[in-house]
Amino acid sequence: MAIQTVGVIGAGQMGNGIAHVMALAGYDVILNDISQEALDAAVARIEKNMGRQVGGGKISEDDMTSALARIRATRTLSDVGQADLVIESATERESIKQAIFEDLLPHVKPETILTSNTSSISITRLASRTDRPEKFMGFHFMNPVPVMQLVELIRGIATDEPTFTACKEVVDRLGKTAVSSEDFPAFIVNRILIPMINEAVYTLYEGVGSVQSIDQSLKLGANHPMGPLELADFIGLDTCLAIMNVLHDGLADTKYRPCPLLTKYVEAGWLGRKAQRGFYDYRGETPVPTR
Ligand code: CAA
Repeated sequence: MAIQTVGVIGAGQMGNGIAHVMALAGYDVILNDISQEALDAAVARIEKNMGRQVGGGKISEDDMTSALARIRATRTLSDVGQADLVIESATERESIKQAIFEDLLPHVKPETILTSNTSSISITRLASRTDRPEKFMGFHFMNPVPVMQLVELIRGIATDEPTFTACKEVVDRLGKTAVSSEDFPAFIVNRILIPMINEAVYTLYEGVGSVQSIDQSLKLGANHPMGPLELADFIGLDTCLAIMNVLHDGLADTKYRPCPLLTKYVEAGWLGRKAQRGFYDYRGETPVPTR
């Protein structure tokens, strides 16, 4: 089936990036969220980020204008029924994702491919709650979506080959690189990345280093573009904790236990950049470590 219209459910950090790259690649995008405020913020963010790409000479003004015209923002979930491919990118909570697919199913075409941008939840389990496990898979982007080259494609146990091929073709059209991951907790990137971040939080918790020295160590000592605590703030501490919990529960190994300090930051609502506070305080001119 030719994919021309892509439905993106959830207009947060990942959803706006996904809508951005899809529209630039020539897809018609239906961007859905329950909150008008989130939709308005997402469209403003897309305009701002495309503006950066125009400024950097990566796209033209015309590319930006026509891409923006291809994005339709809507609070009505049934509007997503027109999509040929749906990418769910709501909050990383299984009950929310399941409820979204349940509400969406009566509206979608029989041939529509359903995917989730989940960073850790079982694709097979999400798929089993729909009427089309063979047309369901994981479509996992990295943040910031317009910049990062990788997309993880995850087959559930029932995903059929035409579905995988159709999604791979979309990734190719985006000019990104797809890797195929088996459906095990947190897939490939987050299986490796998030325990490293959790270990950085333990390093802070145990007083081995300060926020600054931990981040500087990995930036200058391992050539990472961001230190692990800065990256945790960028990803969102709630997301990092949710992924550690999926690893801990799904693999039943104590090496994945979330650091109590990470839990404490999440309990405080200090979720990172999106909350203006995490391991750094972003409310001033420059980020200031909070410990
Ligand atoms: N949209 C469009 N363009 C963007 C952008 C965005 N959101 N963010 C950055 N850019 C562009 C900038 O405009 C700039 O473009 P030019 O080269 O044309 O000037 C370029 O990207 C580099 O940006 P900056 O100069 O602002 O800053 P930087 O060099 O420090 O790079 C970064 C920023 C790309 C975010 C870099 O710090 C980085 O790669 N960090 C690590 C990101 C990472 O690891 N992401 C994966 C997170 S894990 C994940 O996402 C999976 C999950 O499920 C949790």
